[in-house]
Formats: sequence, C-alpha cells, structure tokens
Amino acid sequence: MRFPALPDFPWDSLAGAAAVARGHPDGVVDLSVGTPVDPVPAAVGEALCAAWDSPGYPQTWGTPALREAAVEALARRHGAGLSATEGLDPDAVLPTIGSKELVAWLPTLLGLGADDVVAFPDLAYPTYEVGAQLAGARPARVADDEPLPAGTRLVWLNSPSNPTGRVLDAAALTDRVAEARAMGAVVAADECYLALPGPGVRTTSVLDPVVHGGGVDGLLAVHSLSKTSNLAGYRAGLVVGDPALVAGLLQVRKHAGMIVPRPVQEAMTVALRDDAHAAETRARYDGRRRVLRPALEAAGLRVEHSEAGLYLWATADEPCRTTVDRLAARGILVAPGEFYGPAGGAHVRVALTASDERIAAAAERLAD
Ligand SMILES: Cc1ncc(COP(=O)(O)O)c(C=O)c1O
Repeated sequence: MRFPALPDFPWDSLAGAAAVARGHPDGVVDLSVGTPVDPVPAAVGEALCAAWDSPGYPQTWGTPALREAAVEALARRHGAGLSATEGLDPDAVLPTIGSKELVAWLPTLLGLGADDVVAFPDLAYPTYEVGAQLAGARPARVADDEPLPAGTRLVWLNSPSNPTGRVLDAAALTDRVAEARAMGAVVAADECYLALPGPGVRTTSVLDPVVHGGGVDGLLAVHSLSKTSNLAGYRAGLVVGDPALVAGLLQVRKHAGMIVPRPVQEAMTVALRDDAHAAETRARYDGRRRVLRPALEAAGLRVEHSEAGLYLWATADEPCRTTVDRLAARGILVAPGEFYGPAGGAHVRVALTASDERIAAAAERLAD
C-alpha cells in the first residue's frame, strides 16, 4: 500500500500539555479545539428524530426543501438585503458531510494534480494543505497582500479566519476574486464562521454581488452548520455557487457515495429556516469573547485580529509552545499557532468553545 504522505495529526503533539492542564485541581479548561459545547437546538434534533424511518438511499443532491432553505438562509443572513445573494439557484446547492470533507477532497473532486497550485492563506486551517496533498497538487501559502503564484487553479479564502478571527472586507474579497478569475482559478470561500461576526463587525460572503459583480462563475462558498447551529456531531455542511462547478461536484460525489444521511438533511432544513438559534449562538460567543479577551490581555498577552469567529489569536512574543506550556500550568489548554503555518510560531489560538462556566474559570486562572 502507498498511502498519501500527510503531516502528523497536529493535536497528537499536544498530549504533554494536555496532561499537565488536566492535572489542575479544578479540572482542565480546554480551549484547544473549536468544537461546540452548547446544545443542539431542540427543533433541529426533533427533525432528525422524526426522520428516523429512512430506509432508502438519500439524494446526494439533497432534498429540494433543503436546497431552497439554504438559498433563503444565505439571502436572509448574509446580505445587507436580499440583493446580497439574489439570483442564487437552489440547484446550485450541494449538501456535504460537514465541510471538512469537502475542504479535504475539493482539489481531487476538481481533478487537480501535480501541475496545479492550490493557494490558501499563510495562516490557515490545516485541511487546505491536506486537500492539496491528497490530490497530489502543489500547496502554496499566500499572505493576503501577496499575489497568487503562477499555476494557481484553486484559491481558498477564509473570512472570518481560523485561526486569527480576521475578517476580509468586501474590497479585499473583490480583489482576490478578480485576480483568481484573471488566472482561470476557482475561488472557494470557506465561510463557516460567516454568521459569527463580533459586535459591530460586518462579514461579507463571496456570493455578495458587491464582491462578484453580478455572476458567480468560478465561485464556490463553503458553509457549515457545525458552529452556527451546534451541529458538528451531525456532519452538516453545504457548498453553493457556480452552477456548472456544483453540477460537476454532484456528478463525482454521486459516484463516490458522498451522501448526507436523510435525517441529517431534514435537521439541516429546519436549522437553515430558523435564525433565532443562530443569533443566540452568536450572542453566546460574543459574551465569551468579552470575558476572555481582556483576561488574556491582563495576563500579558497581545490579542490580534480576533474580531469575529470562534478564536482569539494571541501572542506573548515568545515561542508558541512556551505560551502553551505556561497556560497549561494554569489548567488552560490552547493550540500552538504553528499548527496553522510557520507565521504562527509566536502565537496561540484560544477557542471560545467552552461553557460560560469554563470561560469564567479560565479568566480567573489568568488573573492569579
Ligand atoms: C476554517 C474551517 N473550515 C472548515 C471546518 C470544518 O468544519 P465542519 O467539518 O465541522 O463543517 C473548520 C472546523 O473547525 C474550520 O475551522
């Protein structure tokens, strides 16, 4: 067997710090992974249960109701008005088994290979690189102010960013889209944190006409219900955008059996039709950000960006593993910035995905 050469799973290297943090007499505050801890919205769970008797194969394309609900949610939640996503075609929506699998397989599904560059931010979710490696394509870290390398066929954008919480404004998105289009590259915007802007922050979808100028050719937006709807355990994502690209993805995914289970499709439909729980989620994370950010700053860390999404990006101007170890000694586990690229070597990523009680405990420990 010749399995693809992939990096070691980074979290395995945190075992030592995790053991130290777990030794805290009041238990660990684990802020190392962005996994939701708040309840699944009841109506969403009920929709899953109601669809338990689903003996037949589900549609890879998703039910028409799901695709319709997705287009409506994008228009309602992510436009300054309906015009933001007006004209999006429900046929150009495809459910995915969470968004990570799409991120990992998109270069392969698009048929990219050794001659093709997959570009992604210099500080980035590790799966963009893994996806390029799985396809045998060439991964390239590209800072926001750097040009795309020659040979780029796929560009990942991620606003708000994991790990930095940075938001790209409409002008920055527009410039990247124009540059990619001029090279014939596909733009995939990973928008899994789009519905979680901090107070006073505006996030913009790549599907907003302000960005694309009236046509979605060459564009894909990747969405996830994991964070907005606390559905990481359901594996619920979707990709939407250029109808020709989505049709191509559908074709391959049908053959490959990449199908979202029918009960999950029903749960997603209910989640996408309801904005109240999404607003609640956002308010919860705003509250946690308000507690944790000043606590980190008072403890001597500098917090950069972090205006949206689920993470605080902080530095003590020292090697990230030193900061990880110092925080672990206080019973707080965070992720070293180097997981996200060499540019993160002096930073740590602090997730807001812990209960209010655990976030308050972290703030107290930081003050000691
Ligand atoms: C930037 C980014 N993209 C995609 C994902 C994958 O999310 P999921 O597979 O739960 O939809 C994550 C998860 O943390 C993420 O941070």
